[in-house]
Amino acid sequence: MIEVIFTDASGATMAAQVEPGGRIMDLADEIDAPVSFSCRSASCGICRVQVEHGHALLKPAAEDERDVLDALGASGAERLACQARVGSGEGVIRLRAG
Ligand code: FES
Repeated sequence: MIEVIFTDASGATMAAQVEPGGRIMDLADEIDAPVSFSCRSASCGICRVQVEHGHALLKPAAEDERDVLDALGASGAERLACQARVGSGEGVIRLRAG
């Protein structure tokens, strides 16, 4: 099982475990984590999160997610929460949102 820990701008954290293949935004919705969103379809980029730890535990970004991240000039450590899915294995993913 993979644990995802969200940290907001104030440093507060929220954590939950996620099944393999689970979408980060769905988990954020479930636990009311502070991830902003609008389109939920890899268009607006508002849901961009910084992956501080555990990047390898996420499935690789699909082309549409990469296109949005490239257009935003995002670093390689950033993902779109509405598109990023957890892979398999065990460990911890730390995300900074907000
Ligand atoms: S909510 Fe718009 S790209 Fe994720």
